[in-house]
Amino acid sequence: MKDAAPRTIRLSEYSPPAYLVDDVQLTFRLIPLATRVLSRISFRRNPDGDGGPLRLDGEGLKLISARIDGAEVQPKLLTDGLEIDAPDTFVWEAEVEIAPQENTALSGLYMSNGMYCTQCEAEGFRRITYYPDRPDVMAPFTVRIESDRPVLLSNGDPVEQGDGYAVWQDPWKKPAYLFALVAGDLVAHSDHFTTSDFREVTLNIWVRPGDEDRCAYAMDSLIRSMAWDEEHYGRAYDLDVFNIVAVDDFNMGAMENKGLNIFNARYVLASSDTATDTDYARIEAIIAHEYFHNWTGNRVTCRDWFQLCLKEGLTVFRDQQFSGDERSHAVKRIEDVTLLRARQFREDAGPLAHPVRPQSYIEINNFYTATVYEKGAEVVGMLRTLIGPDAYRKALDLYFERHDGQACTIEDWLTVFHDATGRDLTQFALWYEQAGTPTVTVDSRVEDGELLLDLTQSIPATPGQPDKAPQVIPLTVGAIARDGTEALKTTLVELTEAQQTVRLPITATDVVPSVNRGFAAPINLQQTLSQADRALLLAHDTDPFNKWDAGRVLARQALIAMVRDGTASDATYLDALAPVIEDDTLDPAFRALVLALPSDDDLAQALAAEGHTPDPMVIDTARSDMARAMAERLEPILAALYDDLRVKGPYSPAAVDAGKRSLRNAALSLLTKIDGGARAQTQFNTADNMTDSVAALSALLRNGFGEDAANTFYDRWQNDRLVMDKWFSLQVMTAPGETGVATAARLTEHPAFDWKNPNRFRSVFGALGGNHASFHAADGSGYDLLADWLIRLDPLNPQTTARMTTMFETWPRYDDDRQRKAQAALRRIAATEGLSRDTAEMLARMLD
Ligand code: TRP
Ligand code: ZN
Repeated sequence: MKDAAPRTIRLSEYSPPAYLVDDVQLTFRLIPLATRVLSRISFRRNPDGDGGPLRLDGEGLKLISARIDGAEVQPKLLTDGLEIDAPDTFVWEAEVEIAPQENTALSGLYMSNGMYCTQCEAEGFRRITYYPDRPDVMAPFTVRIESDRPVLLSNGDPVEQGDGYAVWQDPWKKPAYLFALVAGDLVAHSDHFTTSDFREVTLNIWVRPGDEDRCAYAMDSLIRSMAWDEEHYGRAYDLDVFNIVAVDDFNMGAMENKGLNIFNARYVLASSDTATDTDYARIEAIIAHEYFHNWTGNRVTCRDWFQLCLKEGLTVFRDQQFSGDERSHAVKRIEDVTLLRARQFREDAGPLAHPVRPQSYIEINNFYTATVYEKGAEVVGMLRTLIGPDAYRKALDLYFERHDGQACTIEDWLTVFHDATGRDLTQFALWYEQAGTPTVTVDSRVEDGELLLDLTQSIPATPGQPDKAPQVIPLTVGAIARDGTEALKTTLVELTEAQQTVRLPITATDVVPSVNRGFAAPINLQQTLSQADRALLLAHDTDPFNKWDAGRVLARQALIAMVRDGTASDATYLDALAPVIEDDTLDPAFRALVLALPSDDDLAQALAAEGHTPDPMVIDTARSDMARAMAERLEPILAALYDDLRVKGPYSPAAVDAGKRSLRNAALSLLTKIDGGARAQTQFNTADNMTDSVAALSALLRNGFGEDAANTFYDRWQNDRLVMDKWFSLQVMTAPGETGVATAARLTEHPAFDWKNPNRFRSVFGALGGNHASFHAADGSGYDLLADWLIRLDPLNPQTTARMTTMFETWPRYDDDRQRKAQAALRRIAATEGLSRDTAEMLARMLD
């Protein structure tokens, strides 16, 4: 399906649609290889359009018939749609045939385990029928499904059902990307919710028979999300039913289709014996995310795909707030920033860097990125920090009031904030336009009872953007006195110039500044502090994020010294760590994060940023030596934690118990380095929940005594697809040194390696990417193995293939030999006959 000339779509070339749609009526006659889709669409010329013929998108459709106002017509068929001259208002009717059974791309209407389902974002609807498949065309949909499957679902509310058919009506205007249909043999886990405006809503989570006892946590998360959005944003649900369907074959996490969310089964199904605490937390966050889209995305949608961050950045920000409220703000913030640095900073520092609002794309699916999502959320958070929570709420109220039912832009969004607060946001808008992570340097001194900060900011060049203007950076600053007391409460400083000096009143003469508290701005901070200064912050900072980050910087610096100079692990760091780990006034979940070392990839990123060439094996060895040194130095503390934190009573996924398990398992991971695996083996044999079982198995595997445990695990779980994904990925991720490549290769031979299932494919190859030393094996075998499999997957599933090429995005960091090998692997993929537009675009950007 290679396109003759892949077209670059530019934001600057946006033009309104020639026609608008007033009403859509669809009939589906579902047959695996010959589904018929009948459409009846009322069109009206757009007064703001530029005239011209009717142009409908369509991809891989067999047109059976087309009529305009009842008269048969012969439209001009194009490779990506059709065109026909049409009157100012008319009714379009078409019948097309598609083959969902043959749809391996998992975009449009496809089948998963005999179930029909859809994925239309971003441009999947055009694979279902001819339509103006762009988000600024919004219409109410009525859908009739004819099928022998027992459960037939679409958007909105059910209006009629009978033998072999059902009719659904969605009264809310929506773009086609929010269309959804499901037909299958499904069972529901049901509940209900009464909204603040007294609407009785039926809630259903639809799953395959046998999975119905794993839906309780997702349902609980949904109900809490609905209540939270009413309380914190004044947003209530707006239909009589809310359906969620779990699907095994899915390209991403989940999809917010109006009234019918479709989820990757792994983000719905959970029971204590099959899901870890991390799984539970993700389910909660993703259920909330998709639910929150009902207002931020669906009721107010995007004008075009360049505005993707309008819905995604805001909705991620909202789900982060929610998880923080439900669990712990400190822990959630540290986890979110860890992810931001690992994914988004990495993206920003490499060949795929792009602004939160990109200027152009070839394939929009390639822009569902950490930058659009995670940095997009940071930008919303900075707006809130700059204007304060009350003004933020006022602005959001105005946003919903003004733009309900509209397809909007970032300009609309910023205008709302301007109108609500009077604040000029011209400079702030640069956060949406300029790629790259700003570096802020801080020099500080105390003068006349004031803390003086000399601040500079600079933003590195990124592809297509050599020069950058200074941005508005909200820096939150506090200070800790030498005696450990707080000498300056958190104060907001607005850095707007390339260089700026600020003076802040302090209550002590000798202080350590605590800058960018709560990680208020997504920046790289360069602050010259001594190890003693950092240890003081780790011990005494009242800001939990900076307390944690002080420890993280100490760990990073110690590890970098080990890597660069071959020094032994650093005593200052270990000494500073001990009292924090022991302090039982601190949340165990927080202490577990303090105990976690930066990943190999983090260290490679840090080394590259300092102009060094990272050596993956040296990094791996240093990190492992450090872990052993921690275990030896902290052994009595870790052993006591391990014994004391055992959670008694029945399993609960709630944050308190999960936090205890995370600290206890962090202790286990270190202790296994020095106890011969005794504790891990016992824990593996006796664990009554998946969190403890996986923690024990990982510890055993990492230290080379996990083979029996892995076999036992397999025997027990071989019929459970989600647990088997863990079995695959754990082995690859924990394989020592460069052996992860051989492990991954061996696992692809396993009969359970169903490579057409994206979760299973990722469980091996995503895990290989997570095993830094293995993926970057010196002989290039990691690159070659991945390239082989991406070449194989691309013709079936371009979206997942293109996404997984990002494992290569860091290639310019490494030595010449690895660079050559990575580039050769990329060129080999690029040279593949018939390569998808998705993958081709990614490779071009990485090789450019
Ligand atoms: N809009 C979805 C979300 O953020 C994600 C999404 C975009 C998606 N494209 C997709 C999901 C394709 C599945 C497949 O929640
Ligand atoms: Zn989303």
